[in-house]
Amino acid sequence: MRKEEAAPRIPVHVAIIMDGNGRWAKRRGLPRLKGHQEGAESVRAIIRACRNAGVKYLTLYAFSVENWVRPRAEIRGLMMLLKRFLSRQEYELHENKVRLRVIGRLADLPPEIQRELKRVMKATERYDAGQLILALSYGGRAELSDAVRRIARRVRDGEIEPGDVDEKAIAAHLYAPDVPDPDLMIRTSGELRISNFLLWQLSYSELYFTDVLWPDFREPQFREALAEYARRHRRFGDIE
Ligand code: FPP
Repeated sequence: MRKEEAAPRIPVHVAIIMDGNGRWAKRRGLPRLKGHQEGAESVRAIIRACRNAGVKYLTLYAFSVENWVRPRAEIRGLMMLLKRFLSRQEYELHENKVRLRVIGRLADLPPEIQRELKRVMKATERYDAGQLILALSYGGRAELSDAVRRIARRVRDGEIEPGDVDEKAIAAHLYAPDVPDPDLMIRTSGELRISNFLLWQLSYSELYFTDVLWPDFREPQFREALAEYARRHRRFGDIE
C-alpha cells in the first residue's frame, strides 16, 4: 500500500501555536489579558473538539522561553489563567481519562504553578485515552540543547558511544520521547512562522495557517483545519 493511502485521515497528534490574543483584545479596546482569558476558553473548546474528532494528542504552545520578556503583569496574568485553567480542567481530564503532560523548562515557572502541574500530571499519568501536552517555558532550540547536554553526559559516563548518537538517540532524549510527532501543526492569527516550536518534531508535519485569531478559534474552525488536513497528500519525501 502506498504511504499516503496508509496515512489516517484524522491526525493522531495536533500541535497548535495559539496566537493573536493581544490583537483580539486590541481590536475591541480591551486589555491584553482579556484576550488571553478568551484564549483560555478556546483552549477548553479545542480540547473538547479533539475528543469529539478522535485526535489523541494535543500539544499547545502556551508559553515560550521567549515570552519571559513580556511585562511582569502580563506574565502574572497568564500564570493566573493557567492555574485557573488547571483547576477547571482537572475534572474533565479524569472524566475522559486524559493524561496531562508538560514540555519545557518546568523549573522556570512559579513554584506554586509547578506544584499544581506536577500534582495533576501525577494524578493523570496512568490515563491512556488521550494526552494534553502543554508547552510551557518551551523552546525548540532549548529542547535540543537540553537533549544534547544529556547525551553528552551519558557519553562522558561511558553509557553510550559517540557512534551511537543518531536520530533515534536524539529523539529519545527530547522532553516527551514517547509522543508521536505531530501530524498537523496549526498556527492562528496569520503569522507564517514556526517560532521555535517543536523544531525536531515538525519535520514532516502538515502546516496549517489561518488568519483567525486564537480567541475566535473554536470547534468549527478546528474542523476546517482537520478537513484541510484530510485533503492533503502525505508523501514523506516519497515520489507520487
Ligand atoms: C499569543 O497571543 C498567546 C500566548 C502568548 C499564550 C497563550 C495563552 C493562552 C491561550 C491563555 C492561557 C493558556 C492556557 C493553557 C489556559 P499574543 O499575546 O502573542 O497575541 P498577539 O500576537 O496578538 O499580541
